[in-house]
Amino acid sequence: MSESIRFDDKVVIVTGAGGGLGRAHALLFARHGARVVVNDLGGSAHGEGANASAADRVVAEILESGGQAIANHDSVTEGDKIVQNALDAFGRVDVVVNNAGILRDKSFAKMEDADWDLVYRVHVEGAYKVTHAAWPHLREQNYGRVIFTSSTSGIYGNFGQSNYGMAKLGLYGLTRTLALEGRKNNILVNAIAPTGGTRMTEGLIPASVFELLKPELVSPLVVYLGSEQCQDSAGLYEVGGGWVGKVRWERSLGAGFDPREGFSPEDVAAQWGAIANFEGAAHPADNVEALKEMMANLQRFAG
Ligand SMILES: NC(=O)c1ccc[n+]([C@@H]2O[C@H](COP(=O)([O-])OP(=O)(O)OC[C@H]3O[C@@H](n4cnc5c(N)ncnc54)[C@H](O)[C@@H]3O)[C@@H](O)[C@H]2O)c1
Repeated sequence: MSESIRFDDKVVIVTGAGGGLGRAHALLFARHGARVVVNDLGGSAHGEGANASAADRVVAEILESGGQAIANHDSVTEGDKIVQNALDAFGRVDVVVNNAGILRDKSFAKMEDADWDLVYRVHVEGAYKVTHAAWPHLREQNYGRVIFTSSTSGIYGNFGQSNYGMAKLGLYGLTRTLALEGRKNNILVNAIAPTGGTRMTEGLIPASVFELLKPELVSPLVVYLGSEQCQDSAGLYEVGGGWVGKVRWERSLGAGFDPREGFSPEDVAAQWGAIANFEGAAHPADNVEALKEMMANLQRFAG
């Protein structure tokens, strides 16, 4: 198979790359010529403990197959250290794959502050810290690719994952704004919502399906999004089991009321069919497009 997508002069940070999806991403980036910073704290799936061997093993795998990589064992909540490590070892950073994650599943009724906070800290603050530390370097060199790891649990909701869903959809909000802020410096920012058979999903997915959902079936999308060839930004992609698709916002045509008169809850009830009906729906791509319909309503009744 030809490999036209190459990273020979590029440095890629993959967080949480000591196992699961991150390991598969790191191995594939390395196979395509990248110098890879394999970050992993090596804790449990619930965010307890630390163990250097997870990242070290993946680095050994990469080196054995002729690739270039270093291990980093810092928590993503200390993202500046990870980026500094990349700069010290390889002199630059081009791609950041924010992949590290944990679960603290509990129904909302049983959710404790510690579960809420830790999930926020690893997924959101961690991704923020790593990306924020890399950002000035990406801007300076007028090149960068950033990938955030969202989840269908954030997009659609999932019982027992209020903390995780909050964090995962938060990362898509971050993606959308960083895509706008990064564009003029050729920094493209995308998010994935993966499904893979890893320790995180073991026991949650039926064993026969788990076997088929190989982490390696997520990484080709991540490597593509991390490449120069990819020119799209602000996207959200569901990926897993050998399938990839793009997700976008959809909004109904809605109902307009006379802003001079105001409107009542009963008016809302009477128009509910139009408000909640997606026939002929719009797909606003940005804030300006999103506000057009509201502005049109103001104009409709102006004067
Ligand atoms: N597996 C799935 O189906 C699935 C679905 C949706 C989203 N995700 C997301 O994909 C990412 C990878 O998950 P996975 O399934 O490979 O799970 P995993 O547990 O195998 O991998 C996560 C890795 O992140 C590391 N990590 C945790 N906290 C860290 C920290 N503070 N600093 C550095 N590293 C840390 C862990 O040690 C682990 O190696 C996560 O963000 C997860 O939320 C996975």
